[in-house]
Amino acid sequence: MLLALSTWPEIERYLGDNTGIIVPVGSTEQHGPTGFIGTDFITATAIAEGCGVQINCLVSPPITVGMAQHHMAFPGTITLRPSTFVNVIVDWITSLSKHGFRRIYFVNGHGGNIAPLITAFNEFYASLSVRAETEESSTLCKLANWWAMPNTDSIIKEIFADADGEHATASEIAVTQYIHPESIKPAPKDLEQAIHGSAALDIHNAYDYRQRFVDGRIGSDVREANQKDGEKVFKKAVSEIAEDCTSFIRS
Ligand code: NI
Repeated sequence: MLLALSTWPEIERYLGDNTGIIVPVGSTEQHGPTGFIGTDFITATAIAEGCGVQINCLVSPPITVGMAQHHMAFPGTITLRPSTFVNVIVDWITSLSKHGFRRIYFVNGHGGNIAPLITAFNEFYASLSVRAETEESSTLCKLANWWAMPNTDSIIKEIFADADGEHATASEIAVTQYIHPESIKPAPKDLEQAIHGSAALDIHNAYDYRQRFVDGRIGSDVREANQKDGEKVFKKAVSEIAEDCTSFIRS
């Protein structure tokens, strides 16, 4: 069930016996020479919607733009400032909580969103803590980074091993190839070996990033990405997240 395709009376009825909602969150940023700029929100949205169908849970419209300043030296990237992103997430949670959603489960597709998402959860909790206790005081948020869920991470390592890399990973590109087979971009013949590194720890800004990771990838061999393996990773992520989300909603 998608919030975007529901009416308000349907949401009112849903809230009568369900208080869970899944929120996909991603980024609009370069993913190397073969990856879609929408990779992070495309994967998060498809996984969130797959999970919503499996466990009969409402899914929010995706948050398609996140914290992507590292990628701004590549055309097409759109970023929010960290403070803007935190405010967007806090307002999203505040709106859902106001309507009676008490378990808000974020399916995230982008590593750069992790720190601001946790900050946003704490901003929201802080706003509850300084008010008198109400029904809303029981609202909880949870973050699931789909690629890092234990069983999904295992299958990614098993299939792609070192070729997966750290950005524009072979596995995330494979998942987008499964979701959008009509738009697959072939890898260039002269594709160079990508350098391994960590965007989170080593990179200061977009110029630094582009100088060190010239085609945008970090460590990934995108020639390994294919639809069949994308399907395996996607299905594992959906079932693992569905299980985790179910126990969160029941908590
Ligand atoms: Ni990505």
